[in-house]
Amino acid sequence: MRESAASRPFIILTPGAAALQEAEAVFLMWPFHSADPAAGVVETIRRHAHRVVLLSSGAVRDGLAPEQHPHLVGQSHAWVEQLIKQSGLAWTHLRPSTFAANTLWWADQIRAGDVVQGAYGAVPMTLLHEADIAAVAVSALTEQDHDGAAYDLTGPEVITQAEQVRTIGEVLGRPLRWQELPREAARQRLSADDSFPDSFVDPLLDGYADMLAAPRPTTTSTVEAITGTPARTYHAWVSDHAAEFR
Ligand SMILES: NC(=O)c1ccc[n+]([C@@H]2O[C@H](COP(=O)([O-])OP(=O)(O)OC[C@H]3O[C@@H](n4cnc5c(N)ncnc54)[C@H](OP(=O)(O)O)[C@@H]3O)[C@@H](O)[C@H]2O)c1
Repeated sequence: MRESAASRPFIILTPGAAALQEAEAVFLMWPFHSADPAAGVVETIRRHAHRVVLLSSGAVRDGLAPEQHPHLVGQSHAWVEQLIKQSGLAWTHLRPSTFAANTLWWADQIRAGDVVQGAYGAVPMTLLHEADIAAVAVSALTEQDHDGAAYDLTGPEVITQAEQVRTIGEVLGRPLRWQELPREAARQRLSADDSFPDSFVDPLLDGYADMLAAPRPTTTSTVEAITGTPARTYHAWVSDHAAEFR
């Protein structure tokens, strides 16, 4: 997530409008914590294309108005989903669970030693491989069957952060382990990390606290239903990205 991203969507718009001249369908990512400029972006897409596939978030809840979502990430995605629904475009909303790629945040620690420090190691997640998101997106962009659908996408298993670290160790052939930090220590660690936006530290930790308190997440079979292939495991994701931890 980018700290200064809220001011950048207009950068997309200028070249985007020209690129849209020949576009039938548009894949829209909205990696911002505010939906403010989204109305103009959606309107530009509507003037040129017929279909939009939004990379939304599993944080969006049907039945909740955008402003009723408890966190900024869910709110901004819910707003953009609503704008698209009201736009007259054909639409598909992809609501992915946590990306497996987030665990690249640990790569520096893993290259430096056998311990990964963080808070909420017991948080269970249904990590999703980016290739599965892409495969679903291609179907939604190229087939009409997905118009008007909001898809909850997950990986095929529930796996805690501590288990994720062990899985990376299995793939690398090293005895990696999780070391639990108190929240404040984890907060300071993330805040000191230049590659991690300060504005996302508290939302991330708040999200983990909520996930720990919530019922254990469940997996969906949506990836397989759409692509014909089961969602990839976290072990498979680490194998695909092992070089990035070495
Ligand atoms: N990460 C998750 O676990 C997760 C889960 C569910 C949903 N999502 C949603 O999926 C989307 C992507 O998440 P992410 O975690 O991959 O976000 P991210 O790490 O912030 O990546 C955002 C991507 O957008 C690009 N970007 C940012 N501002 C831009 C701008 N103004 N113009 C063009 N490109 C811009 C960045 O480009 P650079 O390469 O230049 O940095 C980067 O490639 C977000 O909407 C997020 O809420 C994420």
